[in-house]
Amino acid sequence: MSKTIYLTTPLYYVNASPHIGHSYTSVAADCLSRFYRMNGRQVFLLTGTDEHGQKIEQAAAASGKSPQAFVDEVVERFRSLWTTLEISYDDFIRTTQPNHVQAVQAILTRLHDEGKLKRATYEGWYCTPCETFWTAEELKQTESAGQVACASCGRPVEQLQEDGWHLPLRPYQGWLKSFVKAHPAFVRPESRYNELFSLLQEPLPESLCITRPIRRVGWGIPVPFSPAHVTYVWFDALLNYISVPGYPTDLKRFSSLWPVDVHLIGKDILRHHAVYWPIILHTLGFSDEQLPKMIFAHGWWKIGEQKMSKSLGNIVDPSVVVGQFLKDQPYASDVYRYFLLREVPFGQDGNFSEDAIRTRLESDLANDLGNLLHRSLSMIARYCEGRIPVFSSVGCAEDDVSMQETATGLWKLIPPAMERLEFSNVLEAVMQMVSQANRHIESQAPWQLHKAGQNARLGSVLRVAAEVLRVSAIALEPFMPLVSSAIWQQLGCGELPRRFEDVAKWPVLVAGQQIGSPQVLFPRTPSPSARSLS
Ligand code: MSP
Repeated sequence: MSKTIYLTTPLYYVNASPHIGHSYTSVAADCLSRFYRMNGRQVFLLTGTDEHGQKIEQAAAASGKSPQAFVDEVVERFRSLWTTLEISYDDFIRTTQPNHVQAVQAILTRLHDEGKLKRATYEGWYCTPCETFWTAEELKQTESAGQVACASCGRPVEQLQEDGWHLPLRPYQGWLKSFVKAHPAFVRPESRYNELFSLLQEPLPESLCITRPIRRVGWGIPVPFSPAHVTYVWFDALLNYISVPGYPTDLKRFSSLWPVDVHLIGKDILRHHAVYWPIILHTLGFSDEQLPKMIFAHGWWKIGEQKMSKSLGNIVDPSVVVGQFLKDQPYASDVYRYFLLREVPFGQDGNFSEDAIRTRLESDLANDLGNLLHRSLSMIARYCEGRIPVFSSVGCAEDDVSMQETATGLWKLIPPAMERLEFSNVLEAVMQMVSQANRHIESQAPWQLHKAGQNARLGSVLRVAAEVLRVSAIALEPFMPLVSSAIWQQLGCGELPRRFEDVAKWPVLVAGQQIGSPQVLFPRTPSPSARSLS
């Protein structure tokens, strides 16, 4: 039996509510998981929250709560959003949970006992919002008028001089370079692989400070052999990827999941995942074959060309998009998921706006997909007594054959594209099939066939449309699970499973099957009232 596919999202900081950037990684990870499940694969999708560190401690203090009470409250907003967005995760880790804390402490103790950690004083720059260390060299590009700013988020950094425990990085640079060179799929897309490659051409910092002095940061995992320190939040958080599957206590379960197939992340946390993380694993004795198979770093959602950030006040809350802006849509969460995965190629930056969502909703979903479903099923109801008609090759048009080729061709096209996380290409191909089906109906004009009494041909044309809808429901399942199920129900397929392999087959529907009552999937609404996204 093939290995369970192990997929992860980053652990989201619970210093504030989730925004569209967070939902992007989770929707993509869920889409990939659903695709593999439809292919009969076992999937383990891990998500969760990153609950330690200075910025969470500061956010808790600002709200007058203890860090624990604060994170207990904010974590629920993440969980509830994942329910709203139909994220089908298999485990949700909170880095404050005891088994994770114990795993981190066991790993720290082992590295310490093996002499792999060095005690040293860190001197350099630190960005608290990113919880990230920077060398002066790395900050040169963002320095202006003598002011140093974070190389990732551009916010002010502070100079630190602190005693702590360090994990050496530089001694492993040569090894990492060769590993990366030999594994082009280690980081995707290619632009991010190239970014990592050029990062590794410059000397890495000598080491990574993996502790914080407890007198300055109290909210972290205590370091067992050093009472004056807590664990650096990134060291703690990265270890979740191995602590949840069972490392280091349940190695049997661990080996059934590890190595991870895809770490889905945003591009701002590439260095943590593609430099620190493999070096941590290598230091722990993981072989090259036991390193992550792929790290996929997606782009950023921007608002009017600016990255969303709390300080700019341009954060978009997905539950406002779904619950208010799209409140007239019965499948609002699917519309949102569709928009995120269709609008920009996964890996590139995109601009988020009300207009962009509305355009996708109206053109792709209402005018194309919704229209195809409603007109086809209404005609089947009217002309064929609401039963799936028989396909007859008599009078078969070239268009029918081409429609069949387009639809069944998705069986070959989709899997490699999904493996490359090319979500927008997959959706584009499905929507091209849907448009072709609408053109097919127009050119074959079933209403005229009905008038002319050409019932066999009429049935065939509507059967072609119904088969395209069947394929659409299957192909769209990972992207829009609720819409997919609604199409399925309207076709009368009830509890039948939606299996990806059936995309290759044609025709599949059972002639005479009673369809459900045709319903509008994406109602047209008057232009939005003064609803604001931010
Ligand atoms: N806690 C760390 C991750 C630890 S993983 C072991 C962290 N958390 S985060 O909440 O700041 O970010 C989580 C994810 O959201 C990152 O992948 C980040 O790229 C993504 N996004 C945050 N803002 C974003 C956009 N504006 N657009 C797209 N994704 C962005 O980093």
